[in-house]
Amino acid sequence: MSTDAPDPGPAEPRSRASREVEPGVERDFARNLSYGEYLDLPTLLSAQHPRSVPAQHDELLFIIQHQTTELWLRLVLHELSSACELMAADEHRPALKRIARVKHIQAAMTEQWSVLATLTPSEYARFRAFLATGSGFQSWQYRAVEFMLGNKNAAMLDVFAHDEGQHRGLVELLHRRSLYDEVLAWLDRRGHELPGSVLGRDVTETYQADPGVVRAWSLVYADPDRYWAEYEMAEELVDLEDNFQVWRFRHLRTVERIIGSKPGTGGSSGVPFLRRALDLTFFPELYDVRSAIQDVTPAGYHGGDGDV
Ligand code: HEM
Repeated sequence: MSTDAPDPGPAEPRSRASREVEPGVERDFARNLSYGEYLDLPTLLSAQHPRSVPAQHDELLFIIQHQTTELWLRLVLHELSSACELMAADEHRPALKRIARVKHIQAAMTEQWSVLATLTPSEYARFRAFLATGSGFQSWQYRAVEFMLGNKNAAMLDVFAHDEGQHRGLVELLHRRSLYDEVLAWLDRRGHELPGSVLGRDVTETYQADPGVVRAWSLVYADPDRYWAEYEMAEELVDLEDNFQVWRFRHLRTVERIIGSKPGTGGSSGVPFLRRALDLTFFPELYDVRSAIQDVTPAGYHGGDGDV
């Protein structure tokens, strides 16, 4: 007999919910908290509501891709929020642990673009009209992550004016110090003397690069052994930003292959709008410092002068 499911064998005299998990190990799945209850799977798995009429097979992929990203963003916010609190308390080691997890989440978020890339332009065109003006531009969690990393933009609050809770949450984050603000304050407390104008800046404004901060990071990069904690933190932040940009880039390329040069459902120019975000930076001085680092030439070396 050929069948996909294994043969369950003869019925055993157990209660209906009691099962032998392994030889000698029994569990009564009805009496204890179940997997589905713990994860609230009935809610999670009934939250996909395709809108296309007639129903289009590929819309479920589109919905789940967005929902899984939003779930990951929820965890990113949880980790970043904790990282900010830890840095404020001079607990940089556990903060690095939080950041390390965020980096792995970012990698998962970026990798999943390849799933959506299986959606062809013709498949998307069959249900795009049903999205009306819905757009990732209205992702509250995405904007919250940007604010937390330091890309503050008060104008974004208007997008959430219709939802009092979301609007209030973003206003609160706008007024809170970003991860970079916390790292710079920590750097100062560790004796690197940052400019007062940076430490006391209006945190609701987009962060502007400051030459005094470049100088502080230059000293760290000139002597990594002495300033290992600061050096490690700087490189972790660069990883975070790098990963964020790779996500943005994969989004842009996926959008380009699916809608070409059409405008977005959120009303933007589409791909040109997304391309502009690739010029944004969360931690400007960590890039500026790279140009300030002096090449070290060992004494007596008279070799080549190329990059390779
Ligand atoms: C067929 C797939 C997709 C297309 C064609 C698309 C298209 C676009 C476009 C054109 C924009 C610019 C705003 C607008 O005018 O709508 C945008 C923004 C955005 N999208 Fe997507 N997108 C897709 C999938 C996704 C997915 C799966 C996510 C994951 C949550 C996502 C998240 C975002 C975010 C966060 C923004 C705001 C970016 C910013 O403001 O810098 N998009 N998208």
